[in-house]
Amino acid sequence: MNSSIRDISLAPKGQKKIDWVAAHMPVLNSLRREFEKELPFSSKKVVICLHLEAKTAYLAKVIQAGGAEVTVVASNPLSTQDDVVAALVEGGVNAFAWHGATDEEYHRHLHQALDFQPDYIIDDGGDLVSTIHTSRQELLSNVLGGAEETTTGILRLKAMERDGKLGFPMIAVNDALCKYLFDNRYGTGQSVWDGIMRTTNLVVAGKTVVAAGYGWCGKGVSLRAKGLGARVIVCEIDPVKANEAWMDGFEVMPMLQAAPLGDVFITVTGNKDVITQDHFKVMKPGAILCNAGHFDVEINKKHLSELAETKREARPNIEEYQLRDGKKLYLLAEGRLVNLAAGDGHPAEVMDMTFALQALSLQYLALRAQELKPVVYPVPKEIDDKVALLRLESLGLQIDQLTPEQKAYLEAWRE
Ligand code: ADE
Repeated sequence: MNSSIRDISLAPKGQKKIDWVAAHMPVLNSLRREFEKELPFSSKKVVICLHLEAKTAYLAKVIQAGGAEVTVVASNPLSTQDDVVAALVEGGVNAFAWHGATDEEYHRHLHQALDFQPDYIIDDGGDLVSTIHTSRQELLSNVLGGAEETTTGILRLKAMERDGKLGFPMIAVNDALCKYLFDNRYGTGQSVWDGIMRTTNLVVAGKTVVAAGYGWCGKGVSLRAKGLGARVIVCEIDPVKANEAWMDGFEVMPMLQAAPLGDVFITVTGNKDVITQDHFKVMKPGAILCNAGHFDVEINKKHLSELAETKREARPNIEEYQLRDGKKLYLLAEGRLVNLAAGDGHPAEVMDMTFALQALSLQYLALRAQELKPVVYPVPKEIDDKVALLRLESLGLQIDQLTPEQKAYLEAWRE
């Protein structure tokens, strides 16, 4: 079986979405032209486990243009767009995914994609890597390497490396400058608010927003909340980041203190149980809860269900939980990534840089797979610089260059 998707007749609608983003991804377009000539992935199989929306689809097409047989699988069943997946299948990419897949279907899809015996993988959150290392170990000798998209996935990879369990080289795309400075900060900053606003259709100005986590994603979410006119409270566990949030002009306090003050809560920590029953109990009636971390573990949904007398859909993607004291709390997108489960993910121009890093990391692996060890590698600086330069070029921007004298000055220690 080459694919398992919802409905192939949705392909024309999906293709329009892909065409739109492709027109706004000049860096990937430039790589596509390069790959079409050089065919870096000729006769290789690539399995991609990412959020299956239009920008990801375009990455799959660029890798396919480089000569690979490409298979896609979802990194989250709620972010899959069935029309986009249909367009991919129509275009010769294998796909195993549909929107709203159950846990069992989701895991079956991962296995079906892995049946293609990939040479290279692209992962987002670590589910593909962990499936290979637990239940599909026969593939370990086949996989030459891969690249990981998120902070969460890299944490898991580093834990595997530390325990000597990682079976092939993985490139930490998230840690490249052209990833986290733009995608995590400006991408998450915009797409999270896009998801919240289109889902709730409520005003942000004047509201109190509580952002849990002040990593690069949390910084973007808080910055944009401020720009939209909200009062912003940041909750952090890291004392340095808490100081940074304070000096960026935000209030800083523990979640228990922020809980009765917030109108909108956004978790972006990468950890579990950030908002629990202790917090739900003291929240204001009508508080809105959502998550922008990779897994739906940050808001404790079990606690919320246990406290609730009734639960109903208030609007698409909004669940109303009525607690026993009559108070109503609203959970967006089932506590999954609000920007992808209730939106289309980051803007195309931002994903252009991220996915260019992915494509170039894969090309780097294809050129050097035999030399690399089974550890986590950073994205090489040349790749970061290439993406930054291509992006500047696409914007029509030029920058100064060091003169030979300036270069020598920077390298000298006597002068
Ligand atoms: N679109 C595809 N992958 C994404 C990601 N990891 N974050 C936001 N938007 C995306």
